[in-house]
Amino acid sequence: MIHVNRLEGRVALVTGAGSGIGHAICTRLAEEGARIVALDRDAAAANATATAIGDDAYAVAADVANVEDMQRAVAEVVERFGRLDIAVNAAGVGASSLLVDTQMETWQRVMDVCLTGVFVSSQAQARQMIAQGGPAVIVNIASTNAQQPGEGLAAYCAAKAGVDMLSRVAALELAPYGIRVAAVGPGLTDTPMVARLLANPSARDAFLDNIPAGRPARPEDIAAAVAFLASDDAAYVTGQTLYVDGGASMMRYPSLASRRAGAAA
Ligand SMILES: NC(=O)c1ccc[n+]([C@@H]2O[C@H](COP(=O)([O-])OP(=O)(O)OC[C@H]3O[C@@H](n4cnc5c(N)ncnc54)[C@H](O)[C@@H]3O)[C@@H](O)[C@H]2O)c1
Repeated sequence: MIHVNRLEGRVALVTGAGSGIGHAICTRLAEEGARIVALDRDAAAANATATAIGDDAYAVAADVANVEDMQRAVAEVVERFGRLDIAVNAAGVGASSLLVDTQMETWQRVMDVCLTGVFVSSQAQARQMIAQGGPAVIVNIASTNAQQPGEGLAAYCAAKAGVDMLSRVAALELAPYGIRVAAVGPGLTDTPMVARLLANPSARDAFLDNIPAGRPARPEDIAAAVAFLASDDAAYVTGQTLYVDGGASMMRYPSLASRRAGAAA
């Protein structure tokens, strides 16, 4: 149970809110007093998150990579709650394929959601925050893969490294308006995105061997870091990526032997 009410009365828009980390972020920010707009391209999932929170939450169906969708979503937040204080960009997709095998379509899908989606979302959010004036904060969800290369993850790693840099540029440009921008870099986190990996004993062990904390993150671990960055406790924190990974980024990113099959000769 949460013991603080750091976000009382603030309005928070969370993308990717229908599952995993985004869902946990909505729950945590609401527990700390924020009113929540749960955004996901999966309308039913967004609704489920908003319903679980209760009267202080509502759902929006939108695609983060679509400019019109995100402009409409931010306009709806303002219509409903009058302002936007906190934006968390957590929507993301994964894909695993070696560089030499990656189809253009796969590369584009990951880039569209994971990187372009953060650009499109944060542009719409920042315009509203500038227009309304006063302090506000954007938190983008990156990954340890922003700095740790992983085999089979060219598109994902490149997109997340882009999120890290995009967050820093945004922090620089928006600081004069009192808007902070930070990122959280989760390590392996137990969500539907990595369910198949965690269900594979050899892949799971390869990851666990490289997580000093000895377990994957829970979505709530990531949400706690986001709540800190969104709160006034982080009033002097901007342009930083906070890695929440049980120490994994001090270690080597696992080599998954199965991906190497046929590579050696
Ligand atoms: N799970 C991990 O191990 C892990 C590790 C590091 C970073 N991350 C990042 O955390 C974020 C959340 O991932 P998760 O593990 O909770 O995944 P998840 O698959 O459980 O949830 C992702 C959510 O994003 C939504 N989404 C996907 N594309 C969208 C779009 N175009 N527009 C709107 N919504 C969209 C999905 O419908 C889903 O509800 C992602 O950015 C992911 O890259 C996850």
